[in-house]
Amino acid sequence: MAKTIPVPRGTRDLLPEETPAWDRVEGVARDLSRRYALERIEIPLFERVELFARGLGESSDAVEKEMFRVAGAKGSEEEAAPWALRPEPTAGIVRAFIEHGMHVRPGPLRLTLIGPMFRYDRPQAGRFRQFSQWDVEVIGDAGPAVDAELIELGHRFYAEVGLTDVVARVNSIGDAECRPAYRDALIGYFSAHEDRLSEDSRRRLRVNPLRVLDDKELPADLAADAPRGIDHLCNACREHFEAVRAMLDALGVRYELDHRLVRGLDYYTRTAFEFYVAGREGQQQALGGGGRYDGLVELLGGRPTPGIGFGLGLDRTILAMEEQGVVLPARPPLVAIVGSGDDHARRLRVAADLREAGVAVRPDGSSRKLGKQLESAAKAGARWAVIVDEGETVALKDLSSGEQQDALAIETVVAAVSG
Ligand code: HAM
Repeated sequence: MAKTIPVPRGTRDLLPEETPAWDRVEGVARDLSRRYALERIEIPLFERVELFARGLGESSDAVEKEMFRVAGAKGSEEEAAPWALRPEPTAGIVRAFIEHGMHVRPGPLRLTLIGPMFRYDRPQAGRFRQFSQWDVEVIGDAGPAVDAELIELGHRFYAEVGLTDVVARVNSIGDAECRPAYRDALIGYFSAHEDRLSEDSRRRLRVNPLRVLDDKELPADLAADAPRGIDHLCNACREHFEAVRAMLDALGVRYELDHRLVRGLDYYTRTAFEFYVAGREGQQQALGGGGRYDGLVELLGGRPTPGIGFGLGLDRTILAMEEQGVVLPARPPLVAIVGSGDDHARRLRVAADLREAGVAVRPDGSSRKLGKQLESAAKAGARWAVIVDEGETVALKDLSSGEQQDALAIETVVAAVSG
């Protein structure tokens, strides 16, 4: 036998028994997108490396360590890999916003996308090389109400998929005006303790001192005494953040202040947030996250335009649902079509009539004994079996009770299985 070829490391096949949970979370995301007046946008799965380098920051993990590069065909100009699979969609959506002159549309723009992202990381629990996000972006609104609206939306998503105990952690990391002083304060503080920092943090200290705060290896006492973002906010940022918190309180959204929350991508300004199952710590446990990116449109060559958004990790959402034993809504009952004769055309005609009426139907294409067909119908999860013979009428068997009604018209069957 030929050697088998395994699925690539850090990726997964989703088998039929796993996809109902995906249908559920994607369905909730789509329904919420409708209720929150978000419009769908799609962008390519790969973009130029420089979009991510400039947008997410050279020192972000996503760019520095996890870029999944895509090379062009052999001999092509792009053979040297100027592209990367998207590690996240925000930079690409902002690129599209600029490229299509979307700033002239009546704003703010409220956009959404569900799809796969790629990060070439070391695979582990809840960390994949291909994973899916529900992404939401609102571009063109600087006010605090939209921050609260999106945090409430994320919170609602987790509640509607059936998770309990999800909390939003929020922080404000300031803007171009007040961030430099905060950076200096962090550099001053951590430089005095450099010997206690991990190698990663020592390297980051001068390039991106905020990231030192979310280093897993940061000693607890150093973290606890570190300068806090909210103590360094300028007046405008402080007022913005206070307004966001007041609105979250008014909406009854469960949130906690987290002074160490700085996010892993460089485009963030002001409000930053992440969702966790209460009590879970660490980046790897984040179910989702987002924040404001008021400088990103300009950084990528557009006119200054504020923005805010989130990406909710669907893989981790589903893992959390499994852990909490969330029961998925029952699927509409399945009807099997079986028959004692060889008249498969008639079985298919009955199947077509039922499908026309909206019923989910699985016809048995075999000529096995009726008992065998009924057995496999039950195994396939059918709730009913319609038994077809030469006559115009059919019999309907309830596969859980075993009860059977004979000589029924198709309309009667439709009414019985839909009721
Ligand atoms: P992020 O925090 O990098 O933000 O990712 C958002 C979520 O995607 C994470 O909280 C996590 O649930 C999931 N995720 C990230 N990496 C992996 C992985 N390797 N395996 C499984 N799940 C993962 C962003 O991507 C931003 N674009 C969010 C945003 C939108 N900010 C503003 N707009």
